[in-house]
Amino acid sequence: MSVSSESSAATDDKSFPIVVLISGSGSNLQAIIDSASDPESCIDIRAVISSNPNAYGLKRAHRAGISGKVFNYRDYPDRSSYDAALIAEIDRHQPKLVVLAGFMRILTTEFVSHYSGRLINIHPSLLPLYPGLNTHQRAIENGDTEAGATVHFVTPEVDDGPVIIQAHVPVFETDDSNELACRVLKQEHIIYPKAIRWFAEGRLTVQNGEVLLDGNKSLKQQVYSDEK
Ligand code: GAR
Repeated sequence: MSVSSESSAATDDKSFPIVVLISGSGSNLQAIIDSASDPESCIDIRAVISSNPNAYGLKRAHRAGISGKVFNYRDYPDRSSYDAALIAEIDRHQPKLVVLAGFMRILTTEFVSHYSGRLINIHPSLLPLYPGLNTHQRAIENGDTEAGATVHFVTPEVDDGPVIIQAHVPVFETDDSNELACRVLKQEHIIYPKAIRWFAEGRLTVQNGEVLLDGNKSLKQQVYSDEK
């Protein structure tokens, strides 16, 4: 996989266009908006696209003065026409990176290939553990003592692809899935803006399916702890 961020060195102007895709609350979107508002950030959120007309994330985009648009799957006869329309809309904004932030749609191979190397996702588990839904409940039921979140490049497999960064949190015996989800989400809000910044600064490369930061394997993962 090639990563197309070579021409993206950080500057103090907003020179790195991204498009963010959401379906729900948009708390990760908010973390990205907040991070992009830092004068040091080169991230320019050109548009937010939601698969869900009622997504709270659309309000967050509106509040931040970012263009928000709904692409409801009900308006399209099939997955491939939906994805083709989505591509046309995203490309209008000429993003250097497309960010899936709780976008709860399975994407076609055509979509993923179109954005190969510049499409990233966040998933609330320590991938490859627990792709799909109900990640926190599954971790609790398995008796895991650790959970977390993963930012990764997207490949055609659902919740799969080279890992950019993972945050680890403890699972406590008394946790229910909501408590665990909150603990993980807090870390998502830290690692996603960080991964986007790394990408924009041209610091990520993918070699043999592995992501390197500044050419260094050992910096791939960052571990966070959390007190109860
Ligand atoms: C986040 O927990 C994100 O990791 C997850 O959806 C949530 C969206 O929350 N994504 C997936 O499960 C993707 N497979 P948000 O709308 O508040 O950012």
